[in-house]
Amino acid sequence: MRRSPQSRWHGADPATVHDGATLTLAGGRSCRVRPIRGSDRDLKREFLAGLSARARYNRFLGAVRELSPEALDRLVRVDYRSQMALVALAGEGGAERIVGVARYAAAPGSLSCELSVAVADTWQRRGLATMLARQLLEYARLRGYVRVTVSTFADNVPMLRLAQRLGMRPAAGQPSPSIIEMELLLPEVV
Ligand SMILES: CC(C)(COP(=O)(O)OP(=O)(O)OC[C@H]1O[C@@H](n2cnc3c(N)ncnc32)[C@H](O)[C@@H]1OP(=O)(O)O)[C@@H](O)C(=O)NCCC(=O)NCCS
Repeated sequence: MRRSPQSRWHGADPATVHDGATLTLAGGRSCRVRPIRGSDRDLKREFLAGLSARARYNRFLGAVRELSPEALDRLVRVDYRSQMALVALAGEGGAERIVGVARYAAAPGSLSCELSVAVADTWQRRGLATMLARQLLEYARLRGYVRVTVSTFADNVPMLRLAQRLGMRPAAGQPSPSIIEMELLLPEVV
């Protein structure tokens, strides 16, 4: 699916938005959500290091212990158009930490983007991934994307349930028996 996405985004440039909106999760915990920034590199590294090996494996579709500095830079330095990420932060000042990330990435000129989500193990099952992904999908829609996909291991029940909750369906032509691609068609912004 190629063509330049027709952006209908009229909000402030996400790169200049500093304060996150507060989200209250099931169970009463709260966190702040804002677009990722280049300065989040250390927080992002700590977040990935703090995930269980299983969660990291599911997130990256394979064994990853630690990302290279270059790979980390690519994750935090997004252009807010073809790549976008929302982070959920908990704690204040020096104790601030990332507890969840939802991201999309698109090939140049594509109208389709790929979603990935990860939530810190102790913050799971409170609706955080659902809220982050919903906000991100709306942002993608306003940016002109018309299709979102997610690839996940076939035994990743939490991700499959999340995808279903977001309204995603199995895509036609699955990549392999162990990986399921789910897709969602986004209503075009007129
Ligand atoms: C997948 C993941 C992001 C879900 O995060 P979360 O914040 O716990 O998700 P939510 O609380 O919003 O719940 C979403 C759905 O998943 C279900 N779910 C969450 N954790 C679950 C678990 N351990 N077992 C079964 N279902 C689970 C929830 O019940 C909900 O489904 P429902 O609406 O049918 O009840 C999280 O498990 C995670 O970070 N996993 C590791 C990384 C990963 O696998 N990423 C996906 C590849 S991109």
